[in-house]
Amino acid sequence: MVSPTDVKVYVEQLKPEVFGFENINSVEINQLPQGLWNFNYVVKINGEKFVFKIYSPNIPELLFGNKGKDESVALNVIKDLQIAPEPIHFEYSHLLEKEVLIYRFVEGSQLLSFSNSVIEVVAKNLAKLHALDISKIEDLPRKKETMHTLITDIISTFEKCNKLNIDKNELNLFRNFVEKAKKYVDSESEIEHPSVLVHGDLAPCNIIVENDTLKIIDWQRPTLTDPAFDVWAFVEDAFVRWDLPEALSEGQKKLFIETYSSLVNDPTILERVKKKSSLYYLNVGLYCLMRYTEYESGQISPERTKGKEHLWKKYNIVKDVCVEKLKERSTFKVPAVTN
Ligand SMILES: Nc1ncnc2c1ncn2[C@@H]1O[C@H](COP(=O)(O)OP(=O)(O)O)[C@@H](O)[C@H]1O
Ligand SMILES: [Mg+2]
Repeated sequence: MVSPTDVKVYVEQLKPEVFGFENINSVEINQLPQGLWNFNYVVKINGEKFVFKIYSPNIPELLFGNKGKDESVALNVIKDLQIAPEPIHFEYSHLLEKEVLIYRFVEGSQLLSFSNSVIEVVAKNLAKLHALDISKIEDLPRKKETMHTLITDIISTFEKCNKLNIDKNELNLFRNFVEKAKKYVDSESEIEHPSVLVHGDLAPCNIIVENDTLKIIDWQRPTLTDPAFDVWAFVEDAFVRWDLPEALSEGQKKLFIETYSSLVNDPTILERVKKKSSLYYLNVGLYCLMRYTEYESGQISPERTKGKEHLWKKYNIVKDVCVEKLKERSTFKVPAVTN
């Protein structure tokens, strides 16, 4: 736990130049909505607002990443695109014994509903991100993502689930999906993908909107890989349902896809999203099943779950969304599970 008092002590030992000030005259600290893993504060220094994101120690096997260094590198690389907050400072703090990222606060609120204009702006911002020249970026993770690498990840997450105390019917349902997915991957041809900078966690809560402008936050999982994942995350139902009770309507999905694809030079993007979609649902569904089971069976320390129960329960909701989507798809139709 990092308390507001800890943050205050930390701020006061920073050099004022970090913020472009000669002196630090006033400091006011308020908590931001807390995520699952990190501690987020908004700190008003000399009347200007900054976000302090203090990372919990790196958690192994975290699909959505929590590397402060990567977030800091990503924010610096995309600075000129103006689609994300301005990074101010990053360091490992020996005082807090944690990584700390400081960036300028973005006025606005989390994306809670989708007007056509918001959808168009997200599509434009994402197209800008995916068009960025990455040839000089060396210090971000790089991953060639094929249907074969996806099925390998899926099998590995399934094996982890297999070791947990999961309801037999639920596990059988997923076992069946995995078997179907293996056959599907064997029968489909791969399509080469361009590698671009992918955000990787495009949930509505990571988009801050004010009027017609918006900024994307929470860059903990930047990867040089297939942009299909970001497009899928925004238009398909899993990430949206992490935050909102309803998915995008068919018309909204179409508007996003049309706007995005008219702005990028990626002729096979839609084909790749379509081909990989079920695999993404299965991967995310299994990951959510794993995390929710760990939470429910008390394997996550109370320090991480206390007061955040509503967040942990979201894993179960998204897992159900993924199951529903997989059941709808003909390649993944499974027979009714019997005891
Ligand atoms: N620049 C910002 N402007 C406004 N709100 C922010 C900003 N940065 C973070 N927040 C708020 O803090 C929350 C957590 O930040 P985020 O970077 O998404 O961390 P986490 O990894 O814990 O989800 C966000 O959901 C948002 O509500
Ligand atoms: Mg977040």
